[in-house]
Amino acid sequence: MSAARAGRPVVVVTRRLPASVEQQLAREFDARLNADDHPFSTAELEGALRTADGLLPTVTDRLAAQVLAAEPLRARIIANYGVGFNHIDTGAAKTRGLVVTNTPDVLTDDTADNAITLLLMIARRAGEGERHVRAGAWTGWRPTHMLGTRVSGKTLGLIGLGRIGRAVAHRARHGFGMRVIFHDPYPPPPDVVAQLGVEPRSSVEEVLREADFVSLHSPATPETRHLIDARRLALMKRTAFLINNARGDIVDEAALAVALKQGTIAGAGLDVFEREPAVTPELVALENVVLLPHLGSATQETRVAMGLRAFENLKAFFAGAPPRDRVA
Ligand code: 8YV
Repeated sequence: MSAARAGRPVVVVTRRLPASVEQQLAREFDARLNADDHPFSTAELEGALRTADGLLPTVTDRLAAQVLAAEPLRARIIANYGVGFNHIDTGAAKTRGLVVTNTPDVLTDDTADNAITLLLMIARRAGEGERHVRAGAWTGWRPTHMLGTRVSGKTLGLIGLGRIGRAVAHRARHGFGMRVIFHDPYPPPPDVVAQLGVEPRSSVEEVLREADFVSLHSPATPETRHLIDARRLALMKRTAFLINNARGDIVDEAALAVALKQGTIAGAGLDVFEREPAVTPELVALENVVLLPHLGSATQETRVAMGLRAFENLKAFFAGAPPRDRVA
């Protein structure tokens, strides 16, 4: 190993990243890449914390308190690849003196597009139609075939009006002429709300009762775990649809499967699940649900931008500057 290489911070990158990002990381750091892209075990995560100066994990790495208790701890920063960091025990990280950063902003538009994709797919029965054609079951056009639900002009209810919620509101209002209502315990300033042209509601329940489409855009926290449960699903209109591309834990997946089966609500579009990559088997058997494999930010452009944002956070940290996206 050359002297220059030996002096560089060691950074363990837990998953394959777009090639340009891996190259950038390898230029700047002694980057330990995951050539076969296998998900890290707990032992591997602990090993990384013991042997590297920084860790660049993803949503598939559970950095719980026991893992962060690794001894002797060499790592000083966890530069998460993603905006959501509920897989990291930030309290435990803080106790161990670990800085945690995330990658906001760069994935907002593509994640909002993904929510609209789910909304259109479930309303217009796109998944069902796709399966129908591929199965060779299509017998031809007819006026009553596979009728869906109109999106334009309907009421969209947002739970959470952060960056992604706002981008969804913009698309819904300007793309589909929807009326947008929302509830957020930490709402943006009134001028932002007014400019978006969205209407506040004082509770989750009010939004659920009124909306034709409910879309979830809250972080996963102990407070939002199973925010949408059987009781709240029962408040929704029987003709309404639930969209979730935030985090699986926000919805009681078993209760949702029952509600979809019993017709308590009309349908759901899901990009995230409680026990990824496992999906409640009852959901897989239903036609009135669209299931995507956590594709919210999955565009070439965004996945590169996320990598560069994590890279910048690491670079700033190791240069002794405050990283831009510090969350703990
Ligand atoms: C990523 C996401 O797929 O950023 C998030 O919170 O859910 C997605 O953009 C994931 O986090 C990558 O780690």
